[in-house]
Amino acid sequence: MIRSQSDRFLGIIITIYFLFFLISLPNTLASPTRSLCRSDQRDALLELKKEFTIHSNDNGHVTTVLWNKSADCCSWEGVTCDATLGEVISLNLISETANTSLKPSSGLFKLQHLRELDLSFCHLQGDIPSSIGNLSHLKHLDLSCNQLVGEFPASVGNLNQLEYLDLSVNNLRGNIPTSFANLTKLSELHLRENQFTSGIRVLANLTTLSIIDLSFNHFKSSISSDLSGLHNLERLWVYNNSFFGPFPSFVLTIPSLVDIALSENQFEGAIDFGNTSSSSKLTNFDVSYNNFDGLIPESISKFVNLKNLDLSHNNFGGPVPSSISKLVNLDHLYLNHNNLGGKVPRSIFKLVNIEYLDLSHNNFGGPVPRSISRLVNLSSLDLSYNKLNGEVPHCIWSSSKLNSVDVSYNSFTSFGKSVELGDGSLERDWDLSSNSLQGPIPKWICNFKYFSFLDFSNNHLNGSIPQCLKNSTDYGMLNLRNNSLSGFMPDLCMDGSQLRSLDVSLNNFVGKLPKSLINCEVMEFLNVRGNKIKDTFPFWLGSLQHLTVLVLRSNTLYGPLYNPSAYLGFPSMRIMDISNNNFSGSLPQDYFANWTEMSSVWSRPIRTLDYKRNIRIPGSNYMGDRKNNHKDSIELVYKGVDMDFVQIFKAFKAIDFSGNRFSGHIPGSIGLLSELRLLNLSGNAFTGNIPPSLANITKLETLDLSRNNFSGEIPRGLGKLSFLSTINFSHNHLQGLVPRSTQFRSQNCSSFTGNPGLYGLEEICGEKHVSVPTPRQQDESTSESEEPMLSWIAAAIAFGPGVFYGLVSGHIFTSYKHRWFMAG
Ligand SMILES: *[C@@H]1O[C@H](CO)[C@@H](O)[C@H](O)[C@H]1NC(C)=O
Ligand SMILES: *[C@@H]1O[C@H](CO)[C@@H](O)[C@H](O)[C@H]1NC(C)=O
Ligand SMILES: *[C@@H]1O[C@H](CO)[C@@H](O)[C@H](O)[C@H]1NC(C)=O
Ligand SMILES: *[C@@H]1O[C@H](CO)[C@@H](O)[C@H](O)[C@H]1NC(C)=O
Ligand SMILES: *[C@@H]1O[C@H](CO)[C@@H](O)[C@H](O)[C@H]1NC(C)=O
Ligand SMILES: *[C@@H]1O[C@H](CO)[C@@H](O)[C@H](O)[C@H]1NC(C)=O
Ligand SMILES: *[C@@H]1O[C@H](CO)[C@@H](O)[C@H](O)[C@H]1NC(C)=O
Ligand SMILES: *[C@@H]1O[C@H](CO)[C@@H](O)[C@H](O)[C@H]1NC(C)=O
Ligand SMILES: *[C@@H]1O[C@H](CO)[C@@H](O)[C@H](O)[C@H]1NC(C)=O
Ligand SMILES: *[C@@H]1O[C@H](CO)[C@@H](O)[C@H](O)[C@H]1NC(C)=O
Ligand SMILES: *[C@@H]1O[C@H](CO)[C@@H](O)[C@H](O)[C@H]1NC(C)=O
Ligand SMILES: *[C@@H]1O[C@H](CO)[C@@H](O)[C@H](O)[C@H]1NC(C)=O
Repeated sequence: MIRSQSDRFLGIIITIYFLFFLISLPNTLASPTRSLCRSDQRDALLELKKEFTIHSNDNGHVTTVLWNKSADCCSWEGVTCDATLGEVISLNLISETANTSLKPSSGLFKLQHLRELDLSFCHLQGDIPSSIGNLSHLKHLDLSCNQLVGEFPASVGNLNQLEYLDLSVNNLRGNIPTSFANLTKLSELHLRENQFTSGIRVLANLTTLSIIDLSFNHFKSSISSDLSGLHNLERLWVYNNSFFGPFPSFVLTIPSLVDIALSENQFEGAIDFGNTSSSSKLTNFDVSYNNFDGLIPESISKFVNLKNLDLSHNNFGGPVPSSISKLVNLDHLYLNHNNLGGKVPRSIFKLVNIEYLDLSHNNFGGPVPRSISRLVNLSSLDLSYNKLNGEVPHCIWSSSKLNSVDVSYNSFTSFGKSVELGDGSLERDWDLSSNSLQGPIPKWICNFKYFSFLDFSNNHLNGSIPQCLKNSTDYGMLNLRNNSLSGFMPDLCMDGSQLRSLDVSLNNFVGKLPKSLINCEVMEFLNVRGNKIKDTFPFWLGSLQHLTVLVLRSNTLYGPLYNPSAYLGFPSMRIMDISNNNFSGSLPQDYFANWTEMSSVWSRPIRTLDYKRNIRIPGSNYMGDRKNNHKDSIELVYKGVDMDFVQIFKAFKAIDFSGNRFSGHIPGSIGLLSELRLLNLSGNAFTGNIPPSLANITKLETLDLSRNNFSGEIPRGLGKLSFLSTINFSHNHLQGLVPRSTQFRSQNCSSFTGNPGLYGLEEICGEKHVSVPTPRQQDESTSESEEPMLSWIAAAIAFGPGVFYGLVSGHIFTSYKHRWFMAG
């Protein structure tokens, strides 16, 4: 009884417990010890994790590292499951440093329910295994920006649910497989920057396609009207392939088309807009860098929604059709690099929304109509390389938006008069070079306070530079080269300034170098060549930390180049040309000991891209302003010829002291300038031996020691300088055997004439120049070690190899064209 009672009691308790259990059940199921994730899915993910060689990525972020069995795999970062079945349906491991290839048996291919897979920027290598075909539920597949190679497997035909496919920026090659025809739901296809070849006819039946980007591949075919069925097409980009044949005008009959870019291919023939309806949605039309010719069709006016029209770099001829004035929505118009001619079309000046206008490199003639001022939104104007004359377009002074102007290489004669001036605070970038501008530089130029670039070079400007320029004007680059300007050089940089580059060469400036230049703290380039400057050497410029190029050539500068009380400075000097002046005096042995930049090995600046292209591309190799792509240029006597360096290779290092009255020995410390390419000491009164340390300048290409009083032998070591291509030792008192090396033997005889004591010239000069050796000249080993080189070596030890690159990264991506540019 008791027992039965207690049994019953027990039963009640059990029942209560049971009820309690039932009530608590849902909580238990949701607790972390039970998993929603199916164990096969979890194991597949852990397999995949094991395959990846995890390194933290560029952000120091790693997704898979924290994947472990203590948590539900559906809660792992990057993983999304189906809520009811616990199947992994989405995997997003963008920027995981996998650094491995996908094996055909990879855990990845066991995740057969995946609808979305993003493995972009994962450093994936090797082929795409054909097991990819197992993931037949995929709608979204992104393998972009990896190092995948090989052909795309035909099994892709199994992915017939695919809507989005991105394989951009890999090294895939071969054809698009014919099984692609199966992807009847595909809407976006991104294959840019691979090495795919042949044609794209296989896409003909994929009527759902709306975005196709095949840019930067090796596709080589015509685009035939097979594709005319793609009636959902919105964007077709095929930049930089080898597509050929006529313009695929059928594309323009697709009503949904918004954006077409055929740039950088080999399309040819005239463009016919055929039967396109005028309600076209087209906003971007880019056919630049092809071989199109004929006239620009009148019917271009149909595309009233166009914002960007780029016909540049083709062979279009004739006048610009006046119907272009109907394209009232245009903001970018590029007609440059064609054979367009006639007067500058006024019709363009009705397009008041234009911001960028490029008519350069055509045959437009006559004056620019004043109505150009109607383009009130213009911010960039390029009219360079035409035959325009008369006044420089007035709008460049009056506009308050126009900040980039290039009218160079025309025949403009005047600045125009009575101008109302635009916004003085706008930063401007103006190139008026190589015209026929006459008279003085107008004073009102001083109203414009900021020029990142102002180029008046190669004109006929005369008079003096307005002194107002010295008052708080800020210039990045000022180029007045090759005019007839006179008077004193302006006192630039009075209040400090951003002047980076100043070229006043080939004018008639007199007087001294303005001391105010010492305030140009960021100056890198100074060229005063070919004036009548009469001054002593500007030691005071030595404090400019960034001065890289100093050209004082062909003036009447005088006095010593060495001042015991003035430390020379110039820590960044790479090119110094003080030739054809009246400098005199001798130089101490350690003179070059502090010129560290001339001995620093130049390495190309590199930069990593962080978006859509995980490769490193080089920075600029040339001196100049990278942002606006303006390069510094000089003339130098190089390899015996007066050469125009329109761009200065940053590794180029040169010293030209020729045509002065220097005397004494060449400082032995010259041998420390191991990166020097050009050394010209000709036409002075140097004496003594040629320092054997020259043999240490292993990069030397040009060596001119002619017309001095050098004596002794030519150091043997110079025969080993393998880059040496121009040598001139003529008219000295040298003796002994000329080194027997290819570099010496390939010189002209005239490089050694005027040295009666030299011998061994048979191969260079022929029989008649052979002189008789004297016993002393046979001994090659003695003279080399005689040079004192103690003091300057000691001085040099204090300096580590320092390299200065004040480089800023330029624009890599131009948003309008959505394509990559190699900067520099
Ligand atoms: C396991 O995963 C949990 C939750 O994601 C995390 O907090 C923990 O640090 C992980 N453990 C290991 C050893 O990675
Ligand atoms: C990737 O692996 C290769 C060897 O296969 C190695 O040389 C390279 O340094 C690795 N890269 C990274 C980012 O781990
Ligand atoms: C792919 O699917 C096939 C059959 O559908 C199967 O035999 C194979 O094991 C799968 N591959 C992987 C890696 O799961
Ligand atoms: C195309 O898809 C079907 C299933 O819809 C499949 O049976 C066939 O094998 C696929 N063809 C190719 C070439 O992959
Ligand atoms: C497109 O479809 C048509 C008709 O179904 C067929 O004849 C043609 O071969 C298909 N083209 C491609 C490239 O698959
Ligand atoms: C494609 O791009 C490369 C590198 O940017 C360039 O050298 C080549 O000329 C371009 N091809 C065409 C057809 O413009
Ligand atoms: C325009 O349409 C007419 C008549 O429909 C046709 O004859 C002509 O070939 C078409 N032109 C183009 C370029 O498609
Ligand atoms: C100077 O400019 C004129 C044009 O004004 C040009 O013909 C000439 O070649 C230029 N000279 C130099 C040395 O650049
Ligand atoms: C400048 O040139 C103009 C015409 O070329 C001439 O009339 C004027 O006298 C010159 N002025 C000076 C200061 O040389
Ligand atoms: C430069 O500015 C000062 C005052 O800051 C003024 O007195 C002088 O006239 C200005 N010089 C020129 C040439 O504009
Ligand atoms: C080299 O620099 C040091 C200080 O940095 C200076 O004392 C020395 O005079 C310099 N030598 C020459 C030759 O200019
Ligand atoms: C050339 O440089 C080396 C060290 O780089 C030095 O030992 C040698 O003395 C130098 N030779 C001359 C001739 O200066």
